[in-house]
Amino acid sequence: MTTNGFQAVDLSEKARKKWEAKPATEHVPAPVQDLTIENITPNVITVNSNVKDNPRLQYLITKLIQVSHDFVRDAEIKFDEWTAAWQYLTWVGQASDDVRHEMVLLSDILGISALVDGISYAHKPGSTESSILGPFHDEEGQFVENGAAIVKESTFGEATLVRGTVKDTNGKAVEKALLDVWETDGNGVYDLEHADKDGPDCRGKLYTDAAGKYAFTCVRPIPYPISNDGPVGELLRTLNRHWYRPAHMHFMILHPEYNKLITALYSRDSKYVDSDTVFGVKSSLLVDYNFTVDKKMAAEYGLQTFKKTIDGEEKEGFWLLEFDFVLTEKEVPAPPKLHD
Ligand code: BEZ
Ligand code: FE
Repeated sequence: MTTNGFQAVDLSEKARKKWEAKPATEHVPAPVQDLTIENITPNVITVNSNVKDNPRLQYLITKLIQVSHDFVRDAEIKFDEWTAAWQYLTWVGQASDDVRHEMVLLSDILGISALVDGISYAHKPGSTESSILGPFHDEEGQFVENGAAIVKESTFGEATLVRGTVKDTNGKAVEKALLDVWETDGNGVYDLEHADKDGPDCRGKLYTDAAGKYAFTCVRPIPYPISNDGPVGELLRTLNRHWYRPAHMHFMILHPEYNKLITALYSRDSKYVDSDTVFGVKSSLLVDYNFTVDKKMAAEYGLQTFKKTIDGEEKEGFWLLEFDFVLTEKEVPAPPKLHD
């Protein structure tokens, strides 16, 4: 028999470490006995306020305790609901791995990702608005020549030319801006979702020319469902919500003198454009794909034309999407908020 675990000989590795570890302090700066529903919050905040060397963390932990205690108190959360909540969050964590970001997906469907996006990339008048990044960006996307295809020849979908200019808020063309683009194919599937990933497809990186112009060919994206076979899908079902995103094309635009722009262009005529399950759509990012019969332009960009009935008339051509992006100049970031 020993008086404390540290002297026991048969401890598991986990238990031994627990006894060996030394806390930063054993001092507690506020009462922690006989706390009530009414007075527990300020005392727990005081106990967690010993991080003067990190004022941002101090502010965040204070706010988190205040808001979460208020939530539990106001909603009168009892043991069963608290148990269901932590079991659900455990499931979200367990469903996550290197490629499946279920935690981020939960943040997406609760509008938290859209909120963080809005706070991180505050919109400046005249510039292109941001939109959520999503899980399908790939740092290792292929580089292509300005004007070339980001899609494989065999990929299913309607041939599309995307072109425009990257400018700044003074209207100056931005040369050598790096456009990183990714989208689904004509089946609503990202290359990363294929069982046998066969190199990048429907994604590419290219630089603007001296006039700030960019162009690439691809296929027209269509609406698609986000993952719904895990805890987030279960929550969407329980809340009687759908899990679709409207047709869109993602862009990340980088240039050393300008702020990074992460955005997406949404097809104005797409299903779900008014009900995006992850709240990414902004009206300034709605775009029109125009059916174009210009054979010379098709040949110039190596586009495979296809037949389409437009307003009751069969035509042969391709989709043309034209959009100018406007970047904002880099500035010293605002200091982090430390007080309400
Ligand atoms: C996307 O647009 O790629 C996306 C965004 C949020 C969740 C799932 C997908
Ligand atoms: Fe997407």
